[in-house]
Amino acid sequence: MLNNQLSQLKDLLKIHYGYSEFWRGQEQAIKNILEQKNTVVVMPTGGGKSLIFQLPSLILDGVTIVISPLIALMKDQVDSMEKIGIPATFINSSLSPVETQSRITAIRDGHYKLVYIAPERFYSGEFLNLLNAIKVSLFAIDEAHCISEWGHDFRPSYMKLREVIKLVGNPTVLAVTATATPEVREDIIKQLDLQNPEVIVTGFNRPNLKFGVIRAGESQKYSSILDFTWQIKGSGIIYAGTRQKVEDISNYLTSNGINAIGYHAGMENEERKYVQNEFMKGNHQVIVATNAFGLGINKPDIRFVIHFDMPGTIEAYYQEAGRAGRDGKESYCIIFYSPADRYLREFFISGDNPPPKVIAQVYEALLSYEDDTALVTYAELAENITENVPDMAIGTALKILEKEGYVERSHEKTGLAHLRFLHEIEHTKQQLSAKAKVQNQIFDGFIKHFGEKLLNGVEFSPDDIAQISGVKREAITRLIKKLADENLIEYRPPFRGTEIKILQRVKPLDLKIDFKALKEKHQRELNKLDQMESYIYDHGCRRKYILDYFSDDSSHECGTCDNCVSGLKTPEDNLSCHSRESGNDMVDDEFKIETKLTQLQTYELYQQGLTIDEMAQIRDLKPATIIQHLCFLIERGQDVDINKFVKPQVQNSIKKAAKKLGTEKLTPIKEELDDKISWDDIKLTLAILTKR
Ligand SMILES: Nc1ncnc2c1ncn2[C@@H]1O[C@H](COP(=O)(O)OP(=O)(O)OP(=O)(O)O)[C@@H](O)[C@H]1O
Ligand SMILES: [Mg+2]
Ligand SMILES: [Zn+2]
Repeated sequence: MLNNQLSQLKDLLKIHYGYSEFWRGQEQAIKNILEQKNTVVVMPTGGGKSLIFQLPSLILDGVTIVISPLIALMKDQVDSMEKIGIPATFINSSLSPVETQSRITAIRDGHYKLVYIAPERFYSGEFLNLLNAIKVSLFAIDEAHCISEWGHDFRPSYMKLREVIKLVGNPTVLAVTATATPEVREDIIKQLDLQNPEVIVTGFNRPNLKFGVIRAGESQKYSSILDFTWQIKGSGIIYAGTRQKVEDISNYLTSNGINAIGYHAGMENEERKYVQNEFMKGNHQVIVATNAFGLGINKPDIRFVIHFDMPGTIEAYYQEAGRAGRDGKESYCIIFYSPADRYLREFFISGDNPPPKVIAQVYEALLSYEDDTALVTYAELAENITENVPDMAIGTALKILEKEGYVERSHEKTGLAHLRFLHEIEHTKQQLSAKAKVQNQIFDGFIKHFGEKLLNGVEFSPDDIAQISGVKREAITRLIKKLADENLIEYRPPFRGTEIKILQRVKPLDLKIDFKALKEKHQRELNKLDQMESYIYDHGCRRKYILDYFSDDSSHECGTCDNCVSGLKTPEDNLSCHSRESGNDMVDDEFKIETKLTQLQTYELYQQGLTIDEMAQIRDLKPATIIQHLCFLIERGQDVDINKFVKPQVQNSIKKAAKKLGTEKLTPIKEELDDKISWDDIKLTLAILTKR
């Protein structure tokens, strides 16, 4: 029976996916599922975990439920299942109640084999009732480490799963993850209450990834990543610690001719989706993102993952780095580290772990509201806090109070904005340029909606005006900012706060919260940060360090990471024109190892006295690339005489402009100068200025 089913699945593997073999661990895991054994699978990123639950769903009699935190990817996942002929659907908060209900009916009627569900859905009792109606054969949990507080990406909604599994009649459970230490694996089993599970660990190794660390001060980081993206052709992800940095870096790269796009959680959903698609389709070489991007992203040809700031844990790092090289080809995973990175991480950790005093003070502030329902902003609560903690800590304190049943938070409430015109409408309108089509459109939208009332002041919802004028909400924000800056209007943004219900009133000192556990959690996060930092400073093999961290004992020296290579001394070193005295300067090492050769070939031609075009022709490269190589060499102290390429008086004007405008961005300098001065002139001259 089992053998029959397995060979049937091998046929289906061919038919639906076009694959002829199972990858390591897949067959064993699928066999377990067919035998109804609960199974935990730990396989590397890109190891093919999804197939383990997708494929057997075809022959199981009931449906396979897949729990996944990847709401943004669900639709795509379902579409790609449909494409290969596996009937699938999804349920998450993006659906209306009616749509949810109708999907459940369709599932019950057997139209789907595979159902992706976001765990947040289980907070609704109504939804849980609907689930009763369907027969579940397999309950698959993707990114299963999210259930463990010991892991790196804990999601409270995963805690509900144990209860849901019972509710749907104890089907076979499959939990899969790429980043679980032995401790986290055990915790997954405990939290899900799995009886006699089999744990399949195929290891963590990603042989084609080359790891490295480059030490660079904050401002050096910019030019270093620019170099890097120039060298390594192909698509890449740059992770940055904050939204602001995402924007700065992507602007910087764009103004230096790299096709980059930014992604972070502060962007509207639609925009995020757009950016993600653009990157997936290959329309942009580089995506600069916070860690909101990445989990589950399966773009095969990502050639590098750069961390602009040190990540908080090895797990998070390895998961993010794991986006690289999923096609098996050589790819780079580089961290740009400056000692200041640790502060950013500590800041995040302290926001995640408010001390008992802060929790009590937040609660006390809520008690001062007479109503049991308070509409407050974090800023208001922050006024009552005597400790110096990041704003994030207030949100965390509320979460803790909620978890212990003292308060309940409803969703964010967005109120109305206030707007009053300070001058006659016609006068204000005249301040807009007639060419600014969108601005005029919005303005007319306001007039149409409110007319003369604008002079007395109106309350409005930016979303409504966006709809009336047919523009994006951000365009409205921009116009309002412009008008306010010019003192033409008075404006107050909408109230953005949270509605909080007080469920229990006790004395703040009597709060029953497990402070000891909270303290342990705090300590654990700091320990993980230490381990991350040790990775940076470690002199041994990077890959081995990571595999050891996950207790993967297959580890040995990889021979390809920066530390391994600098220990080995490759033939490239002999070609190197500058000395190795800076042996512990990882910046130089890194470029020497991986990317030196091509620039040095150009350097040899340069030394023969050739022009840029001649060099380009011989090397079969674009002249712009030759310029890049020369800049690279100059910045690293090679002797390149740019007087041959750029007239001294042109250099002087560029230097003057750079003095005024800084050397970070090229575009403003270009704009400042005579049109005849080329980008190449500017790049070469700046290289001289930023020479180490
Ligand atoms: N047996 C196989 N033969 C060929 N390709 C496969 C096989 N199994 C999976 N793949 C392909 O490998 C790629 C990665 O698979 P998948 O997305 O399931 O990785 P994953 O293990 O979930 O990784 P992550 O932890 O990063 O989410 C997919 O494109 C998938 O189709
Ligand atoms: Mg996956
Ligand atoms: Zn190594």
